[in-house]
Amino acid sequence: MSNQTPANAGMPNEDPWSGTEDPTSADVVSDLGTVVPHAPTAANPDAESILEVRDLKMYFPVKSAGLIRRTIGHVQAVDGVSFRVPKGGALGLVGESGCGKSTTGRLVTRLYEPTGGSVEFEGQDITTISPRALKPLRRDIQMIFQDPYTSLNPRHTVGSIIGAPLVIHGVMAKDKILPRVQELLEIVGLNPEHYNRYPHEFSGGQRQRIGIARALTLQPKLLVADEPVSALDVSIQAQVINLMQDLQREFDIAFLFIAHDLAIVRHFCPEVAVMYLGKIVEIADRETLYNRPNHPYTQALLSAVPDVKQAAVGGRRERIRLEGDVPSPINPPSGCRFRTRCPLAQEICARVEPPLLQIGATHKVACHFAGELGHHPVKPVTAGLLGVDDSGAPDPGATPSPLVGNEPGYADTWFDLERKTMASA
Ligand SMILES: Nc1ncnc2c1ncn2[C@@H]1O[C@H](COP(=O)(O)OP(=O)(O)OP(=O)(O)O)[C@@H](O)[C@H]1O
Ligand code: SF4
Ligand SMILES: [Mg+2]
Repeated sequence: MSNQTPANAGMPNEDPWSGTEDPTSADVVSDLGTVVPHAPTAANPDAESILEVRDLKMYFPVKSAGLIRRTIGHVQAVDGVSFRVPKGGALGLVGESGCGKSTTGRLVTRLYEPTGGSVEFEGQDITTISPRALKPLRRDIQMIFQDPYTSLNPRHTVGSIIGAPLVIHGVMAKDKILPRVQELLEIVGLNPEHYNRYPHEFSGGQRQRIGIARALTLQPKLLVADEPVSALDVSIQAQVINLMQDLQREFDIAFLFIAHDLAIVRHFCPEVAVMYLGKIVEIADRETLYNRPNHPYTQALLSAVPDVKQAAVGGRRERIRLEGDVPSPINPPSGCRFRTRCPLAQEICARVEPPLLQIGATHKVACHFAGELGHHPVKPVTAGLLGVDDSGAPDPGATPSPLVGNEPGYADTWFDLERKTMASA
C-alpha cells in the first residue's frame, strides 16, 4: 500500500453528487447533428469474436539521463486490459488524454510488443507469432490515424498513398492498381480523377477520407480508428463518421474506435469501454453505459457531454468537475487508480484494487462502491468477493470468489449489486 491516502478516507460515504441534476439521462444528444444512429449492430454478447484481448500490459521503460542509461522505472501505459470485439461490430474506447488508448490500439495492430497478456485475432494468438506469420494478418488489421495532416506523406500523390499497400503486399497486378485506387476514392466520396493530386490540395475532411481509403485498400476485417475525427471541424466529423458507418455495413468491418468524446462513440459503437490510467474501469452496452453508468469516473465524463436538447429549451446541465490532474502512470496510486480524484474514495480504495466485476448481462465495473448516480452503496460491494473486510484488510474467514477474473466478454451469470447474489438472464 502506498503512503497516499484519499482525501476523504474514513468519511461517511454520502453521495457527494446527490442533488446535482442527473447528467446521464436518456436525453444526452451530441452536437453531431446529422449522424445516423448505428442501429443494425446492437451489442450482442453471443456474437463470435474477431478480436480478444486478455490482460494486456504495456510498460515503457523510463531511462536515467547520462551516458549509462539505466532503467529507473516504467510508464504503466496499459495495465491488464481485457475486452473483445465481435465480428463486424464496434467497440468504443474512451478516456482522458494519456490513459493508454493509443497504446492499446498500437498493441492490437502489433505496432508494439506487449509487456504481458495476449491479443487473439480470429482465434489465433498474434502476440508471439513471427514477423513472417504476421504479414498476412497486417492485411486484415488496419489503422486509421488521428491527424490527417501528418499521417499522409506530402511528397506522394494520393494515388501512390492509397495504392502503396497493394504494392507492398504484392496482391494485385500493376495494371489493376490504378482502377482499384479510383474505386476506393469513389467509395470514400472523393473524385476518382484526383488520384494524381497531393495531400496539401485536399481539406482536412478530405484527407481523412484518403486515410480511410488507404486503410480499406487491403479489405481489412478489423479497423483500429485512433481518434479518426478529433482533428476535424464538428460539421465534417459527422460526414466522416457516417462514411465509416456506411463502410462498416457494406464491408462488414469490425471497429475498435478510440475517442476522447463519449458523444462520438455513442453514435458509432453498440459497446463502450471507459479507460482510466491504463485500466478499463467500466464496459457496457451503449444504453447501459450512457443511461445507468455505475463508475464515478464514467458519471463524471458523461456530465461533460454537451446536451443540445436541454440547451435548446433553455435548460442548463450541471457539470461534475473532476478535481486535480491525472496521476503519473509511472507511479500510479495504490488500490484504485482513480481514488486521488474520486469523491467517494474510502480506505479500501487505497488498499485493494477493485476488480472489473460483471454486474449485468453486458455490464462490468471496477469500483468498490459501484452504483447508479445518487445510489452508491455505503459499504463496499466487493469486500466479500475479494475476501477482505470493509476497510480492505484481509478477512481470514472469507474466501475470495472465482467471480473476480479478467476475461474478455461477458459470462452468463453475474453479481447482482442490489441482491448481493448471483444472477442470470
Ligand atoms: N513510446 C512511449 N514511450 C514512453 N511512454 C509512452 C510511449 N507512448 C506512450 N507513452 C505514455 O503512455 C501513456 C499512455 O499514452 P497513450 O498515447 O496511449 O495515451 P492516449 O490515451 O492515447 O492519450 P491521448 O488522448 O492524448 O492520445 C502516457 O503517459 C504516455 O506518455
Ligand atoms: S473504487 Fe470506486 S469509490 Fe473507490 S476510489 Fe475507485 S472509483 Fe472511487
Ligand atoms: Mg492517443
